[in-house]
Formats: sequence, structure tokens, C-alpha cells
Amino acid sequence: MGTSSRVAAAIVVVLGLVLSLAVVCNGGKTSSFVRKVEKTADMPLDSDVFKVPPGYNAPQQVHITQGDQLGKAVIVSWVTVEEPGSNTVLYWSAYSKKQKSEGKVTTYKFYNYTSGYIHHTTIRNLKFNTKYYYVVGIGHTERQFWFITPPEVGPDVPYTFGLIGDLGQSFDSNKTLTHYELNPQKGQAVLFVGDLSYADKHPNHDNVRWDTWGRFTERSVAYQPWIWTAGNHEIDFAPDIGETKPFKPYTHRYHVPYKASGSTAPFWYSIKRASAYIIVLSSYSAYGKYTPQWTWLEQELPKVNRSETPWLIVLMHSPWYNSYNYHYMEGETMRVMYEPWFVQYKVDVVFAGHVHAYERSERISNVAYNIVNGICIPVKDQSAPVYITIGDGGNLEGLATNMTEPQPAYSAYREASFGHATFDIKNRTHAYYGWHQNQDGYAVTADSMWFFNRYHHPVDDSTSAQ
Ligand SMILES: *[C@@H]1O[C@H](CO)[C@@H](O)[C@H](O)[C@H]1NC(C)=O
Ligand SMILES: *[C@@H]1O[C@H](CO)[C@@H](O)[C@H](O)[C@H]1NC(C)=O
Ligand SMILES: *[C@@H]1O[C@H](CO)[C@@H](O)[C@H](O)[C@H]1NC(C)=O
Ligand SMILES: *[C@@H]1O[C@H](CO)[C@@H](O)[C@H](O)[C@H]1NC(C)=O
Ligand SMILES: *[C@@H]1O[C@H](CO)[C@@H](O)[C@H](O)[C@H]1NC(C)=O
Ligand SMILES: [Fe+2]
Repeated sequence: MGTSSRVAAAIVVVLGLVLSLAVVCNGGKTSSFVRKVEKTADMPLDSDVFKVPPGYNAPQQVHITQGDQLGKAVIVSWVTVEEPGSNTVLYWSAYSKKQKSEGKVTTYKFYNYTSGYIHHTTIRNLKFNTKYYYVVGIGHTERQFWFITPPEVGPDVPYTFGLIGDLGQSFDSNKTLTHYELNPQKGQAVLFVGDLSYADKHPNHDNVRWDTWGRFTERSVAYQPWIWTAGNHEIDFAPDIGETKPFKPYTHRYHVPYKASGSTAPFWYSIKRASAYIIVLSSYSAYGKYTPQWTWLEQELPKVNRSETPWLIVLMHSPWYNSYNYHYMEGETMRVMYEPWFVQYKVDVVFAGHVHAYERSERISNVAYNIVNGICIPVKDQSAPVYITIGDGGNLEGLATNMTEPQPAYSAYREASFGHATFDIKNRTHAYYGWHQNQDGYAVTADSMWFFNRYHHPVDDSTSAQ
């Protein structure tokens, strides 16, 4: 090497060092992808996705969710408009004869809106890993659907979860759902992190928009369970029009199996599914010390048996780690209450929504601060979860594009685009996580990570240069 080329090589090395240092100091990657800013609008009421199924009193807005703690029960829900009709679900598999299950019907009023007849029927004692067909609308117009029960709970059971948040019913929402459906990494159940219909953005919280959302999402949620988390757009608290009971439309329409996990309210609960233990929390219910949610969670975390369910996943709506200039620090008080537990019990991953963009954190915690010591900077922590904000479903409020600068060190990747993700559990040690944005092809991941289980394989799985 001549002197000049040696100097050039040295410059390259120094430049490389400076660049990688810059990455470390300023956190991870902020995507350079700049999405074209388009008008975000709800799909009009006469859109194809909102079509009412034909026939007298035909069931509409059919949706299912897990109906017990283990995955042997399914709650089937639907709405009829002309008359209550039947609460019966007829179901069968290739290995069992036709059986019936009977449920209940409810209605509610919201300002000057009166709901249709909302049916909820729980089917129990199902066999694991079995395809079931089911029929609703007995006696009038019958409609048939199917679902596949999860495999029996166990440590090495592969399972793929989809992740969707803040979906709404805009043209972008329809793109997100389509991308989820056509993702070759087939999701088997959706972990939904809150903010469903955004009906509350319409005059008087026009609850017709809850019905249209139910019809829009039926094409997925009638065939695979969506696991519900309550967001702020589920509160529907509107004292100006006399509506003072929070969560009225949401709790009438979307049932969850909260009693099965000893919860006393439908806003926080847990389920086991395949090799995952999923804890759903409520950012909009009291969570301070001695409250029902706090008491439940304190008793819940020690129950998680990682030899049975290696993957401990928490869902909530408002993120604890969020470096966008939207909803900034709204999750902070809950973080202060619960983060030490998440580290103690080695939660693998926390999914949240609320911020209409995407962000993934490093494994970090911020639990050293005690009011007087001033130690309040997030630090790398291999016992801590990865925090993922996936509030990018595409609702009418549009994208969150304004980020805090510089990107904090704990933030591994952030991008203001609509999309969804999948969490693909392979066995007790490995899970592949991929985030898909709506502008890419169906198979493309814009951000991805191999998760190493915090209990069975607590090896550093960070994606940063360090
Ligand atoms: C409810 O009231 C609003 C105005 O306050 C009106 O536009 C709408 O048509 C009413 N809806 C029904 C179902 O009466
Ligand atoms: C929604 O997406 C589906 C599937 O891609 C498509 O068939 C339908 O026309 C779309 N509807 C609207 C209103 O964008
Ligand atoms: C945890 O699960 C394993 C595997 O299913 C089981 O053998 C063990 O008894 C369980 N431990 C407790 C404390 O229940
Ligand atoms: C981004 O948010 C900050 C903090 O709220 C604000 O000061 C700034 O004006 C915003 N920038 C844009 C372009 O909106
Ligand atoms: C778990 O899955 C990972 C990723 O597919 C694989 O590399 C590893 O060998 C698996 N572990 C076992 C014990 O099979
Ligand atoms: Fe929200």
C-alpha cells in the first residue's frame, strides 16, 4: 500500500467509527422512507366492505374471540337487525357430529342510536387444533363460517400471531387488513392493541360506524380470533349528549373471557394460546396501587409458568416507550407502576398502539429512580421486554410523523407508515418478528428481529451495532 492509500484507508476507518458512534449516541434507525401524505378519510357508508348481507334478519358483523383461558372455547358474536332471532350456534368438525350452543342477546342505546340485536354465544369443550364449521342465523337467513382451534398449550408449539392496532375504517385501514390477509406469513390469531372503529370521531359518536366496522372486519375476525384490548376510542364518554357510562358500545359488542383469568372487569385479562401467555392491560382503567387491575396483575404474574408457556406477551393501548411527539409520555404513570414487575417476571415483548406510527425499542428498563437519586435514564436490560408501538392500522386521524430528535438511544427503529406485524413463535427459544408496511409487497418486512426467549434463552438479541 502506498502512503496515500494508507491515509485513505485510515480515513475510511475513522469515518466508520464516527458513523457507528453516531448510531450508538443517537439511538437506532429512523427510516428515511417518507410516505406521501394523502387525505385520510373513512370509507363512505356505501362502500363494498360495509355491504349488509342479503336475506331476512341475516346475521352481520360476525366475530370470534377466545372463550376461555386455554383455547378450548370460542365466543361467537353477531348482530341481527330485524328481530332478535336465534341465539344458537350450530357447529361441527370432520370428527364430530353437529352440536348446538345457546347464548344471549343484548341491545343498547347511545344518544339517539339504538343498536341491533347483539348476540354472544360461547362454544365450549372444543378439541385442540381442529377445524370447526359454524352456522349463525338459525331460523331465518343462515350464514356459515369456520375457524381452527389452537394447538394444546405447550412449550414448543409453533404459532403465528398477527398484530394490528388503531385500525379504524379508512381506505388505509382496508389496505392494512388486506396486507395482513395476504401476508404469506399466515397469522392464526390477531392481537389487537386497541382503538377499533373510531365511531367517536363522527357526530354524536355515530354508532352506525360501530356497525360498519363490524361488517368491514368480519372477513377476518369471523374466521380467526382477534384478542381485544380497550383503547381510548372505546371509552365513548360523552356527557354533552348524556352518555356518561364509559365503554358502553365496546362492552356490548365485544366480549372477552375475563372471568376465566380471575379478572373482575373485561378491560384486563389473560389467555394462554399455544406457547404464549398473553396479558391484556387497560390504559384507561385505574391501575394505581390497590386498584382492581393492580391487585389482579400482582396475583397474575406469578401464575405464569414459563415451562408451560415460554412466551410472555403483554398488550396495552398507550405505549410506555414512545419517541414521537404524539401522546408523548401518556403511558408514563402506568410504566412507573408496573415496569419493575415486567423486568422481574421477564416479559418478552410489550405491544401497544395509540401513536399512529411504528417504533421498536431495544431491551431497556428505567426502574432505578426513587424520587431522590436522579437515576432516570433508560438503560440496557436483558431482563426487560422489547416495546413495540404498532398503532399504525391506518385510521382517519392520519399518521404521526413528528418525532423527537435526536432518536433516543433506546429506540431501535421507527417509521411513520401504516402497516401490521406478525410474531411467529418457532419453539421455546426463538420467535421471528416482522413488521410490514402497506407500501411494500405482501412478503416484505420493513423491520424484523429474531426474539430470544427471556426465560429459556436469555441471550442478547438486540439488533443495534453494539
Ligand atoms: C340523531 O341526531 C342527529 C342530530 O342531532 C341527526 O342528524 C340524526 O339523523 C339522528 N339519528 C337518528 C337515528 O335519529
Ligand atoms: C377493500 O379491500 C378489498 C380487498 O383488497 C377490496 O376488494 C375492496 O374493494 C376495498 N374497498 C375499498 C372501499 O377500498
Ligand atoms: C409448570 O408447567 C410444567 C409443564 O407443564 C409442569 O410440569 C409443572 O408442574 C408446572 N409448574 C407448576 C408450579 O405448576
Ligand atoms: C413537532 O412537535 C414539536 C413538539 O410538540 C413542536 O414544537 C413542533 O412544532 C412540531 N413540528 C411540526 C413540523 O409540526
Ligand atoms: C428453535 O427454532 C430456531 C429457529 O427456527 C432453531 O434455529 C432452533 O434450532 C430451534 N430449537 C430447537 C431446540 O429445535
Ligand atoms: Fe388511541
